[in-house]
Amino acid sequence: MPAIDFRSDTVAMPSPEMRQAMVTAPLGDDVFGDDPTTNRLMEVAAARMGKEAATFVPSGTMGNLIGIAINARSGEELIADAESHAFFYETAGAAAVCGVQIRPVPTEAGVMSPEQIAVAVRPRDDPHQPITAAITFENTHNRHGGIVWPLDALRAASDEAHRQGLRVHLDGARIFNAAVALGVEAADIAACADTVTFCLSKGLACPVGSIFCGSRESVQDAKRWRKRLGGGMRQVGVLAAAGLIALDQMVDRLAEDHANARTLAEGLAELPGVRCDLSRVQTNLVFFDLDTMAAPVFTEECARRGLLGDWAGPKRMRFVTHYGIDAEDVQSALKVCEEVLTA
Ligand SMILES: Cc1ncc(COP(=O)(O)O)c(C=O)c1O
Repeated sequence: MPAIDFRSDTVAMPSPEMRQAMVTAPLGDDVFGDDPTTNRLMEVAAARMGKEAATFVPSGTMGNLIGIAINARSGEELIADAESHAFFYETAGAAAVCGVQIRPVPTEAGVMSPEQIAVAVRPRDDPHQPITAAITFENTHNRHGGIVWPLDALRAASDEAHRQGLRVHLDGARIFNAAVALGVEAADIAACADTVTFCLSKGLACPVGSIFCGSRESVQDAKRWRKRLGGGMRQVGVLAAAGLIALDQMVDRLAEDHANARTLAEGLAELPGVRCDLSRVQTNLVFFDLDTMAAPVFTEECARRGLLGDWAGPKRMRFVTHYGIDAEDVQSALKVCEEVLTA
């Protein structure tokens, strides 16, 4: 039996249509701006985000790093949620590569209030303190459970940031999950940011890639940074072809992943020794806590039975639904979890 793989939405395999498009895509050298498939994807992606321009980057991490690099200078500070991917999981790239200090701000559920932003911004007339140049928001928010920012809250935070003179970057790795959950266009969310990165390689099931979007000027700067970071790619239309299919065919179906996540979470919450905050299960991520069993042991026991998950703390688990998971997998997974917990 093939494994039911809940480790991440990044494990989702490209669809048959994507594989076909990748084989037949017209190609050129994208560093020369010659790749017609990549150029087409950039037009479509920029339009979907309501931005002037876009550029293909190998990963969400590089997209966020570029967002930091072009919105803040060395010696300046960037505000980020204390549980954000940029602060937690990007190997201190802001500091190591850009010389930018991240100011982590703890939040209740990944949503930063205008008041929190106002307090976190440094006084400009104090020569002891760095200049706060930028802020990054994450939507959906990974470590906070895949929660979605209410649009009003995001607008209010963005307005406050701009009022304070900050540039706003959005880590929209899963922006389409947020858009589908809210029933809005991704552009409505991206409108709250000057620059945005979204991932093709997560819920949209592409094999590789993310897209950085912003003004023409920002994207020109982004391309210079991408080159500096070694991310200029040549016949990247092979990957962009999958991206075009993804934007056309894979966005609306995210609702299925969300429904599967909800069923999974409700089933888990019923199991003995499991606590799952259902109010946080808003998209395709399901975090839950184990009362007695250690999460690494639970992970291992599930894996032995063909169910793969990821532990996120000594007693905390994360399961992620995606294109490779159907409703039947959810039921099978719940049976495995029950067996492991009651063995
Ligand atoms: C919220 C968020 N941002 C950024 C990234 C980084 O994406 P990548 O793995 O493509 O570098 C991830 C990856 O899981 C993520 O969850």
